Amino acid sequence: MKILFTSSECVPFVKTGGLADVVGSLATVLAREGHDVRVVLPMYTAIDFSWQQQMEHLLHFDVQLGWRRQYCGVMQLQHEGVTYYFLDNKYYFGRPYVYGLGGDEYERFSFFCRAALNALPLLDFQPDIIHAHDWQSGMVPALLKIQYQHLPFYAAIRTVFTIHNLQYQGIFGIREVQDVIGLGDGLWSADKLEFSGCANFMKAGLVYTDIITTVSPSYAGEITTAYYGERLDGLIRARKKELFGVINGIDTELYDPETDNMIAQTYTADTLGGKAKNKKALQKELALEEKADVPLLAMIGRLTNQKGLDLVDCVLSDIMAEDLQLAVLGMGDSRYTNLFSWAETKYRGKLAARFTMDSALAHKIYAGADFFLMPSLFEPCGLSQMIAMRYGSVPIVRETGGLRDTVLSYNEETKEGNGFSFRDFNAHDMLSVIRRALDFYRNRKDVVETLRKRGMQGDYSWTHSAREYLNLYKKLLKKGSA
Ligand code: GLC
Repeated sequence: MKILFTSSECVPFVKTGGLADVVGSLATVLAREGHDVRVVLPMYTAIDFSWQQQMEHLLHFDVQLGWRRQYCGVMQLQHEGVTYYFLDNKYYFGRPYVYGLGGDEYERFSFFCRAALNALPLLDFQPDIIHAHDWQSGMVPALLKIQYQHLPFYAAIRTVFTIHNLQYQGIFGIREVQDVIGLGDGLWSADKLEFSGCANFMKAGLVYTDIITTVSPSYAGEITTAYYGERLDGLIRARKKELFGVINGIDTELYDPETDNMIAQTYTADTLGGKAKNKKALQKELALEEKADVPLLAMIGRLTNQKGLDLVDCVLSDIMAEDLQLAVLGMGDSRYTNLFSWAETKYRGKLAARFTMDSALAHKIYAGADFFLMPSLFEPCGLSQMIAMRYGSVPIVRETGGLRDTVLSYNEETKEGNGFSFRDFNAHDMLSVIRRALDFYRNRKDVVETLRKRGMQGDYSWTHSAREYLNLYKKLLKKGSA
């Protein structure tokens, strides 16, 4: 099968969140299965120079965006069996950031979507499937259906659109978007591209794609409700038959405590003692008190309201009144970085916070922590809880989205479970579950050890999910030719 991914980020080239991990590792796994997999990305200046040096300039062409004519170069790089195309335009992507500050996101990603489609005949690549990810690629299915599919080259291409996070939709003024995207007046109605008087890239993807997927079965159900649906639940309900939840995997080679060379001591489920060395090294690195028997809780991720940090804020003094340590790593909103830098001073030696994207430190925290806290407000899939389990850190999560699908709370009657969880988005429910976990740590070490082992033995590989995607692709192609 010939498969094209379009995405605004992808490991190992550019990453702001889980989207990058998923696109990079899924592409690699599908290529390993023998498929022709190619990925289109923006050529950000932010991509490390060592990668840029390895790229080859293939060709260039002009892209028409309303009255604008913009240069688009195509740079190519092969990596682990996947062909990557980077769309080069310095005006749009030659900036020191990936998203945000310029106020012209709609123009940057309209350029990206149109250029990705225009490049295909020039590259002589006619994919069977275009798999577009998140709002930045939302105009790909829309443009394809509306403007390209009457051309023989594009006629047979089928599309999959994956929601990694429904909260970010790419909402802009209709006039501004129309001025660059070149989609006629008749398309801006509520059943097509219009959304509360605005243009919405995510909606464009959802309306025009053949199949919608999202990154866990639970989230697929949740986004059909008003609570999680981010005002697109009506549309999603209407397309329920074409909506599938496929749980993400993680890169099990990159995240492997048995071979990880970023951590102080490698270990397995049978040599869990190695974890103690990692904890000691981590405490030292983060200037936490070097005590072996104090439970260490960790949080790693984007510091946004999605991650349930308001719950932590609400009961932080109660949490810190316990005999424990807390390590926080991530970048994000200033209200949370302010909170944790204040807390680091107040609870010196007990709480450490680092506001960077330091993957080596992340590995050390996964390896050194006893518990991993993830009380998300919503969580399409979540990768860190799986990584934490792989490193034998016991997850404490809220039962939502992918967290609900990957973590089963320990049941004292049946002895089942691989972590701890609570249901409602309530700070005191979270607090009591943290206390429950601490209680096991102090008084039932055997239970914590069992949970660690179960976590480490879990299957977080892509094997199963990659097959699910392939089945969806195949189903689409069969339908197309019938
Ligand atoms: C987004 C979601 C996260 C998911 C990731 C990859 O970052 O917030 O839950 O794991 O995308 O699909």
